[in-house]
Amino acid sequence: MVGSVLLQRMREESDFAGIEPVFFSTSNVGGQAPAEAGAGAVLHDAFDIKTLASCDAVVSCQGGEYTQQVYAKLREAGWSGYWIDAASTLRMAKDAVIILDPVNRPVIDQALGSGVKNFIGANCTVSLALMGLGGLFREGLVEWMSTMTYQAASGAGAAKMLELMQQMDRLTGAANGSTRRDALSVEEVVTAEQRAATLPTGEFGAPLAGSLLPWIDKEVDGGQTKEEWKGEAETNKILGSESTIPIDGICVRVGTLRCHSQAVCIKLNRDVPMEDVEAILASTTPWTKVVANNRADTIRDLTPTAVSGTLTVPVGRLHKLRMGPEYLGAFTVGDQLLWGAAEPLRRMVRILREQ
Ligand code: HSE
Repeated sequence: MVGSVLLQRMREESDFAGIEPVFFSTSNVGGQAPAEAGAGAVLHDAFDIKTLASCDAVVSCQGGEYTQQVYAKLREAGWSGYWIDAASTLRMAKDAVIILDPVNRPVIDQALGSGVKNFIGANCTVSLALMGLGGLFREGLVEWMSTMTYQAASGAGAAKMLELMQQMDRLTGAANGSTRRDALSVEEVVTAEQRAATLPTGEFGAPLAGSLLPWIDKEVDGGQTKEEWKGEAETNKILGSESTIPIDGICVRVGTLRCHSQAVCIKLNRDVPMEDVEAILASTTPWTKVVANNRADTIRDLTPTAVSGTLTVPVGRLHKLRMGPEYLGAFTVGDQLLWGAAEPLRRMVRILREQ
């Protein structure tokens, strides 16, 4: 799925002009390659180290398992090209930089200057939080941040997205089949369908449609999940923080398709006037959009439905929380497949070509 979005974005931005792309596959070796590879070109074996090593840069949209299987072999074969992926395998390695250039271009440039060859996209919630809120970090105003996420099915992969749709279909079928039309009767049949052993749950392990799952990825120490752990570790690495800014919260899977949302509480290190907060946030990136804290603007612009398939990262519900003038509430939404996955990789290829 990320590969398809990457290809689409590279075409839209004419990124193939001036490069000689070679396409690889783990599942369709010998199949027809995209037209950009030239007439009659086929998909190469993604495990063929020799052919991979003939490339100046390798961009992978496979998961961490592929990186695990291939990356070390490529380096052992003497390959000194650029490795670009979005998997967590190499992300925290000393010789890898996490890429989110609208936020950390200086970190990327410094790494390129010092010979770093591994450029890795961040976890999607981390990238999307920084695309929305990065200005406050850039200005050194964040003492800590707590983020509660609402993560789309796409973050878990294509098969899970499809299972969500199958579950929705089943629940709608049950509701439509109910002879009693009052809300409580419809709820009763839908809940029974959610709990039915026949509901497809092989991917998520539980019903997601009409429900939510407050657990993403595996358990780590301290009661956190790995997804929650990444928030602090990756954000601070992206920013190149001198001292760690504490970031924590609870990551929740919800029944949206491809946009992750986050409700955030930020402890500012001083009482910053709201006009300044809004101006700083608006300057985060050209794609960051401050949404006025009123109902009409919020339900029009600050939802997964509004953002899906776009590069805009709205940030809204901005107000000082009752805990005190240094506590800022915010809500942000971003497309998990674009800024959360494919876009930083695409842009890294551009940055390499500028060298
Ligand atoms: N781990 C994220 C999720 C997606 O499950 O939504 C990739 O960053």
